[in-house]
Amino acid sequence: MSLENRGAFIVFEGCDRIGKTTQCRLLVELLKSRDIPVLPMHFPERSSHIGQVINSYLTNSKDLPDEVIHLMFSANRWEHMNQIKQKLLEGNTLVVDRYSYSGVAYSAAKGLDFDWCYAPERGLLKPDAVFYLRAPADDLTNRGEYGKERYEKVEFQGRVAKVFDQICAKEANYWHQLDASQSAEDLHAQVADIAVKLVHRVATQDLDKLY
Ligand code: TYD
Repeated sequence: MSLENRGAFIVFEGCDRIGKTTQCRLLVELLKSRDIPVLPMHFPERSSHIGQVINSYLTNSKDLPDEVIHLMFSANRWEHMNQIKQKLLEGNTLVVDRYSYSGVAYSAAKGLDFDWCYAPERGLLKPDAVFYLRAPADDLTNRGEYGKERYEKVEFQGRVAKVFDQICAKEANYWHQLDASQSAEDLHAQVADIAVKLVHRVATQDLDKLY
């Protein structure tokens, strides 16, 4: 690829323990094996000051009003935006585990207004593709370590999935809903097929913003 080509902005979304982390890793390995420059990222990014507050909240050592933690998650994305833009423009494809849609889905599932939740996300970079991993909620309880963090409750995850479904219907032109109950290998094959084409297709396109 020539130097002026940008990388693709790829996001994985879905409920807790759905297999996003494995799929992110497999995609990063595949792109590397094809000599496509690629970097993994994960939100929340827990190492910054804001990220540490989020981590305390998620591990139940700190309580915050729903609105406050929502804005912290959003601020955590904003504080990394320049870095994300720079990496993409340098030609790196980013494979990102969770993004703004998790922000909206988890807060709206608590009862906060959908549009209010979306507002602080406006103006952030828009992903070129979102892989939405979807499986029945019961299936999630069988996945390892379920139940350790604040949101890892079956009933709550069901509500989160409903909001993701709504977003998926609205953003259908760049969302890919995939069945997470199939084997990791089969799922990866579907992801890989879409992602490799995408990397080439968007290389000369301008970056877009969430609106
Ligand atoms: P994550 O570290 O991705 O956990 P896991 O690997 O278990 O999926 O995310 C931690 C939790 O934070 C997860 O329950 C989803 C939630 N979350 C939000 O509520 N808002 C957000 O903006 C993000 C990025 C995550």
